[in-house]
Amino acid sequence: MQLKDKIAIVTGGETGIGESVCRRYLNEGAKVVVVDVKPRSALEATYADVEKSNLLLLQADVTQRDSIEAIVSSTVDRFGRIDILFNNAAVFDMRPLLDESWEIFDRIFAVNVKGMFFLMQRVAQQMVDQGSGGKIINMASQAGRRGEALVSHYCASKAAVISYTQSAALALAPHRINVNGIAPGVIDTPMWKDVDALFARYENRAIGEKKRLVGESVPLGRMGRPDDLTGAAVFLASADADYITAQTLNVDGGNWMS
Ligand SMILES: NC(=O)c1ccc[n+]([C@@H]2O[C@H](COP(=O)([O-])OP(=O)(O)OC[C@H]3O[C@@H](n4cnc5c(N)ncnc54)[C@H](O)[C@@H]3O)[C@@H](O)[C@H]2O)c1
Repeated sequence: MQLKDKIAIVTGGETGIGESVCRRYLNEGAKVVVVDVKPRSALEATYADVEKSNLLLLQADVTQRDSIEAIVSSTVDRFGRIDILFNNAAVFDMRPLLDESWEIFDRIFAVNVKGMFFLMQRVAQQMVDQGSGGKIINMASQAGRRGEALVSHYCASKAAVISYTQSAALALAPHRINVNGIAPGVIDTPMWKDVDALFARYENRAIGEKKRLVGESVPLGRMGRPDDLTGAAVFLASADADYITAQTLNVDGGNWMS
């Protein structure tokens, strides 16, 4: 068990990559706080099979200041400290650049950048006060490595995640808080249902065609599965990564080289 008795917060933990990471962290011995904007009933249904003593389910919206405060205070009230933040909640949308709107910009940046940054900042403050280091992992994307004509706001939001990861890593290094990112490629989660439907609309494709094509073009020959991310999520949260900070690790089947 690589994370025995560590206290981990995972945002966007109701489904997709976040759910797989929550389950893997629990299997590695961590106590896990699952945060998601979805109703509490959805969280309870997803985790109905999990033993409750190591689990805290929190319905919270990471774009809200009082929610961020509540995530930290509820975690400390229940488990006494925070060792790991897996900063994963995000939303996707896309439009041709000339149709991009202020509303879509605000929605994407509110979750993917503002929520990501201010939760990281608040958790970092808690870790600094605890005085024994910590691990922060921010979910970036291959979309943050390169712009895309149809996906400008989401790509920019993920480039911001990579940049904030670097700045936070430097700011928090004196406190032995490691800050790293993970950049997935194309991962078969509920998010991809929306992504595929949007590409179908804007590239005039059949439903399912984009998803098939992106999977076929991955050097390792398939889309990723949420479980493909969990090894990196554990490694970067573990003592094995004590000398790694400011990096964003590509977990993408070979799509991007850096
Ligand atoms: N799926 C992919 O192909 C892919 C590729 C690259 C990066 N990513 C990134 O990985 C992460 C997880 O992606 P996924 O595919 O599992 O996504 P998903 O859409 O399947 O799940 C995201 C979860 O985040 C929650 N969420 C959304 N807004 C929230 C908010 N304001 N507060 C709290 N929770 C909120 C949603 O309710 C959902 O449960 C995201 O950061 C995403 O950008 C995904």
